Amino acid sequence: MKAKYDFSKGERGKFYNAKAVFQYPQLSRKDIGPKMRLHNKTAIVTGAGRGIGKSVALRFAEEGAKVVVDDVNDANGAETIAAITDAGGEAMFVNADVSSAADTERLIAETVDTYGTVDILVNNAICSTADVLDNNWEANLAVALRGTSHCSNAVIPVMQQNGSGSIINIASVNGLIGLQAIHAYSAAKGGVIALTRSMAVAHGKDNIRINCICPGTIQTEVWEPMLERNPQILDEITPWYPLGRIGQPVDIANAALFLASDEASFATGAVFVIDGGLTAGNHQFPI
Ligand SMILES: NC(=O)c1ccc[n+]([C@@H]2O[C@H](COP(=O)([O-])OP(=O)(O)OC[C@H]3O[C@@H](n4cnc5c(N)ncnc54)[C@H](O)[C@@H]3O)[C@@H](O)[C@H]2O)c1
Repeated sequence: MKAKYDFSKGERGKFYNAKAVFQYPQLSRKDIGPKMRLHNKTAIVTGAGRGIGKSVALRFAEEGAKVVVDDVNDANGAETIAAITDAGGEAMFVNADVSSAADTERLIAETVDTYGTVDILVNNAICSTADVLDNNWEANLAVALRGTSHCSNAVIPVMQQNGSGSIINIASVNGLIGLQAIHAYSAAKGGVIALTRSMAVAHGKDNIRINCICPGTIQTEVWEPMLERNPQILDEITPWYPLGRIGQPVDIANAALFLASDEASFATGAVFVIDGGLTAGNHQFPI
């Protein structure tokens, strides 16, 4: 049987277009009020200066959340804040390095000082692409794994006091299957999946739900250094996806929105794979 795409010729997938810069969702908050899915909720999103974290922050704001944008990049953080507040949403920026326990405690304290509480935490920050590609174990473990643990530990007492909470950890398909030789990143993400389950079991009694999302390839700025090395890289990746496209940041933001909302009240300790079918199997396997 003829394969749908000829990978060896770098044939294009259906939707990916290397020349198209991805768009962040345009915020429209026309129906402000109790019908919004995160009305009266306060959410912290780490690494929300760009990419998936920014998209999650915008999507949460669109659904009524007060959003705390955490990032180590002030300029990018300010851009996310402007996108939210210009559309009438509520947001504040905190520069906290998630690899520092002291910083994450300050992040939670500043959030409580400003908005009174924390209902939702999204652990999304990741070290630089260079550190991922160089297998920098220290950076990958410090930001992805210990960062997730630091932020979660700092927020849990607040959520315990509230009697509820939702923590969403952004892991990766690399935590589930072997893909490239980015072992430190894959191991850190596998650790995030294990940490999610372990903490979910411990805090079910507190009504704190802890889930993780494993995205497949998502078109964010993180791919820019790799596109410079190989402008065809996303075209080459696309045929691996049964849905015939790679993901957009909003694909993950929508999954995070579900997990943050009361609609997910029975979901905890779960691994939500949002990957266009990548890990379901090999759709090009010849039979
Ligand atoms: N883009 C993908 O293809 C993809 C695929 C699977 C999983 N993911 C995961 O999704 C998440 C977001 O990915 P992305 O593509 O948006 O990444 P990105 O690099 O575009 O964004 C990461 C953000 O984290 C910030 N950051 C870095 N170190 C930090 C620290 N110590 N403390 C706080 N913030 C810090 C950066 O400044 C940046 O704004 C990551 O956890 C990543 O592993 C991404």
